[in-house]
Amino acid sequence: MRLAITLLVTCLLGSPLLWAALALPQQGVGEFADQWQPDAMHEYWDPETMHRPEKERMSGVYTADDCLACHKALTPGIVKDWQASRHAQAAQPVGCPACHGDDHQNLSLPGPQICGGCHPQRVAEMEEEKKYGFPSHALAMQRAVDSKHFADKPKAEVTACLQCHSVASKCDSCHTRHRFDAAEARRPEACITCHSGPPHPDDQAYAASAHGRLYQQEGQRWDWRQPLRKGNYPAPSCAYCHMKDGKHQVADKAVWKFGIREVNPHSAENAIKRKRWLATCADCHPEEVARDFFRNLDAERQSAWQKLYAVERLLKGLRGDGLFTPAAKERPPYPMDWLGKWWPRERIGFYEGQASAFYNVSAIERDYFELWYFTNLAAYKGMAHGASEMSQKRHQQMEREAAAIAAQAEQLRLTPKKVHDRPSLWQQGEYTEYNRDHQ
Ligand code: HEC
Ligand code: HEC
Ligand code: HEC
Ligand code: HEC
Ligand code: HEC
Ligand code: HEC
Ligand code: HEC
Ligand code: HEC
Repeated sequence: MRLAITLLVTCLLGSPLLWAALALPQQGVGEFADQWQPDAMHEYWDPETMHRPEKERMSGVYTADDCLACHKALTPGIVKDWQASRHAQAAQPVGCPACHGDDHQNLSLPGPQICGGCHPQRVAEMEEEKKYGFPSHALAMQRAVDSKHFADKPKAEVTACLQCHSVASKCDSCHTRHRFDAAEARRPEACITCHSGPPHPDDQAYAASAHGRLYQQEGQRWDWRQPLRKGNYPAPSCAYCHMKDGKHQVADKAVWKFGIREVNPHSAENAIKRKRWLATCADCHPEEVARDFFRNLDAERQSAWQKLYAVERLLKGLRGDGLFTPAAKERPPYPMDWLGKWWPRERIGFYEGQASAFYNVSAIERDYFELWYFTNLAAYKGMAHGASEMSQKRHQQMEREAAAIAAQAEQLRLTPKKVHDRPSLWQQGEYTEYNRDHQ
């Protein structure tokens, strides 16, 4: 019996064909490709890189009508959605083989490359985002898998990143398969599946704004079949503002971007971006309304950064006096962080380490992280979307959190330094170990 199993395993490993048929890619992608292995869902999130044809699948080469006939019984929902789509109704219907191929043992799952065969302009627009750097939809997958904690943590704990960051590698995030309905993509609901949660509460900010309130009151009655152009909508949705005139490009106006760094809104490049914003608002408002709005946004950001810098100065003082407990060298290092193994560092904000290094830190650093990454970003997103009350409340919260950190710092200075055991942080624990063993 044991011999039979050994033989079988040897056979499987030895046969490239079967191996290709059964296995996922053995390597991840990106900077840490050789450090992690994709999990099964990855083939849906990054289909053009991760999908492998399955040779044990039913065989045959079929016409579009064959696909429909069989899949009508097998996957009726998919066929119904496709029948209701523009693809089915086009003069030359875009059938199942146009996207998946016609050889059933060699099916593809389509991503931007296949869609781009017929919609090259849309793909080119998204590609163009790359010249504006992070963040952007086009670079989103890279951003996630190149984060150290993505490669460090067990896959079961970080696979969910791809649910959102796959916006780069598939075209069915906003107009979902198999309806591929532009009307669906124009609505805010298409964006807030990803644009929600503590570091980017765009959903809350929009809902609390004058634009979002109008949408909630009467959006059901707007004609979403209309393209996003001047005159077609009484108030803007996310896509109206961020994808002006339907352009598949969300990065060409972003000045404050994600909000985690201070920027100079008046640099030459940012002045050009601001002009694009003013042109967007000009569909419905006199220019002065928009100018005021951006003046207020920049002032809000300035005041937020004054608060953040004050706390960073305090923390740098503690660090200088060796008062972080546990200190960096007492913590388990990030497995991926070679530099950090030799030169362990306390983490304070963006410049003092990378944004993703927020797990393995002392309590007071984590408190600052939450102030900077959650409360501050919510204050920014509120203001950026005209939800000034939301923003004010978050500023008050920033003040409370800064005061609590100051009190904690005082305490650290008063009490003599404790001796710490090697702490059991995110690298240990039953759940983490189980997941690591079952990668
Ligand atoms: C316009 C392109 C397009 C057409 C036409 C199309 N599909 Fe798809 N199909 C997709 C995309 C995109 C996905 C999802 C890929 C991913 O998840 O990354 C998909 C996924 C699927 C899946 C896998 C679903 C799952 O959840 O596992 C099946 C089955 C499928 N399609 C069947 C069909 C059939 C049958 C037809 C014809 C009626 C068809 N498709 C037509 C683009 C298309
Ligand atoms: C005779 C029936 C039959 C015909 C014809 C047929 N399929 Fe399928 N298809 C299946 C079955 C059964 C499965 C699921 C089991 C499997 O994977 O073999 C499937 C699965 C799929 C999947 C899912 C693949 C995945 O990775 O999740 C896609 C996509 C698909 N078919 C597309 C097509 C396309 C495109 C055609 C026409 C070129 C077609 N099918 C013709 C029976 C059929
Ligand atoms: C073989 C060519 C072809 C491929 C491949 C293709 N499309 Fe299309 N697509 C079309 C045609 C043709 C239309 C209809 C245009 C019309 O009616 O004016 C269309 C229309 C659309 C629309 C507009 C729907 C609406 O409500 O107005 C969307 C969105 C879309 N496609 C997305 C996609 C995506 C995403 C993919 C890849 C998963 C894809 N298409 C792949 C040819 C294609
Ligand atoms: C499938 C998830 C997903 C959907 C749906 C989605 N986004 Fe995004 N979006 C992301 C991710 C992830 C990022 C950040 C990428 C990175 O880290 O580089 C992002 C970034 C952005 C940015 C920041 C660009 C910059 O330069 O600062 C804007 C603006 C944006 N999205 C707007 C939208 C709009 C508008 C919609 C709806 C029409 C939408 N997104 C739908 C996932 C999504
Ligand atoms: C709910 C959807 C969602 C999930 C889940 C998610 N992200 Fe994001 N992420 C976003 C969005 C949206 C943005 C950008 C928001 C903005 O620009 O305001 C973003 C931004 C980022 C950024 C910052 C980009 C920059 O340029 O500074 C990084 C890095 C990142 N995500 C990595 C990850 C990792 C790693 C995970 C998993 C542990 C993850 N994300 C999970 C939606 C998500
Ligand atoms: C962030 C959300 C989002 C993503 C991701 C996205 N789209 Fe769209 N798409 C939209 C919106 C919004 C519209 C409606 C535009 C309008 O009203 O002019 C649209 C419309 C379309 C249309 C039909 C309208 C037209 O004039 O071309 C096509 C085709 C299309 N998208 C293709 C794609 C392709 C290909 C991809 C992948 C590269 C993609 N989309 C990814 C949001 C998105
Ligand atoms: C009235 C136009 C408008 C609407 C509607 C709108 N936004 Fe924004 N959004 C802005 C402005 C202005 C900024 C700040 C731009 C800057 O200075 O970087 C911003 C910032 C952002 C950012 C940070 C990246 C960037 O471009 O600066 C994201 C992500 C974002 N919005 C997503 C959304 C989502 C998701 C929705 C819908 C729930 C939405 N927005 C609705 C105008 C709008
Ligand atoms: C498609 C039209 C449209 C666009 C584009 C648009 N707005 Fe508005 N805006 C409205 C409408 C309509 C209202 C009034 C809502 C109400 O009174 O209920 C409004 C209200 C406002 C208000 C007043 C808010 C209040 O609380 O009274 C401000 C400020 C504003 N918009 C700023 C902007 C800025 C800045 C932009 C561009 C980033 C923009 N708008 C883009 C339609 C638009």
